[in-house]
Amino acid sequence: MRVGFIGTGSMGSILIEAFIQSGALSPDDLIVTNRTIAKAERLAATYPGLLVVKSNADVIRDSEIIFICVKPAEYKSVVDDIQGGIDAAQIIVSITSPVLIQHLEALLPCKIAKIIPSITNFVLSGATLCVYSDRMADEDIERLENLLSHISAPIRISEEHTRISSDLTSCGPAFLAFFIQKFVDAAVEKTGISEEQATQLASEMVLGTGKLLTTGGFNPAALQKRVAVPGGITETALRIMQKELCGLFNNLIHTTHAKYEEDLEKVSSRFFDAKGQIT
Ligand SMILES: NC(=O)c1ccc[n+]([C@@H]2O[C@H](COP(=O)([O-])OP(=O)(O)OC[C@H]3O[C@@H](n4cnc5c(N)ncnc54)[C@H](OP(=O)(O)O)[C@@H]3O)[C@@H](O)[C@H]2O)c1
Repeated sequence: MRVGFIGTGSMGSILIEAFIQSGALSPDDLIVTNRTIAKAERLAATYPGLLVVKSNADVIRDSEIIFICVKPAEYKSVVDDIQGGIDAAQIIVSITSPVLIQHLEALLPCKIAKIIPSITNFVLSGATLCVYSDRMADEDIERLENLLSHISAPIRISEEHTRISSDLTSCGPAFLAFFIQKFVDAAVEKTGISEEQATQLASEMVLGTGKLLTTGGFNPAALQKRVAVPGGITETALRIMQKELCGLFNNLIHTTHAKYEEDLEKVSSRFFDAKGQIT
């Protein structure tokens, strides 16, 4: 199966490397391009056999599934480049949350999927969120999810929950890393433990906690209850978290959704004019 990539920046290269490292694809299966072509050529130097082509149209010509890994503002020009060359049997996979399936359906004749990857896919872990256009047949979905399952747990969501789901899976690693960093900083400041050791301890804790919550039979409430013995140290500390963090997550979700609405409007205006006509 020939898989194309338009955009080999941060997320495009993470996906390419994860597919190769996991054995899902070999470099020979991949055909890639990037606006700054040297970036794609660096990947080809690391993975001999990976084919770099000069234009977005060249990727489309020879690929069955094509991942578009560019930022929202760059999206319309990519669609313009590929519009004339794509056919109904090909699958476009968009990884950009504010580009709606309906936008792409209006502009492209092909099958369309939106998947939201996560940096956790780099270590063949975490989720990829999946939303499909009605043009995707069951066998198309199966083929794509089979590919994604080598690097992640593909989880189907409704498009209206794209933002909140992405907050949890895609932004989540940064949020959790922030929490860990603050925990480590305080540990170093208050006790003199080395930053290196505190980071190692916290990171092992996160890995183990993730396992308990995914395959270990715990949900978040049960895990807290199990660790926090009544009257013990953890329970006392959890009371502080309850007090200090109250409202934080509501604010966080409010902020991510407000920014998303802004991005949606900007992207829509690049695709459609005020009368809803394609620009
Ligand atoms: N970062 C994450 O954790 C994450 C997670 C989920 C989804 N996403 C989504 O992934 C998308 C890409 O994000 P990113 O962090 O990978 O951005 P990025 O590092 O800026 O990568 C975008 C790449 O697209 C290339 N590009 C731009 N316009 C192009 C065009 N017309 N034709 C071909 N290539 C073009 C850029 O080339 P240049 O080298 O010339 O700049 C750049 O290498 C975004 O929509 C983001 O929302 C990101």
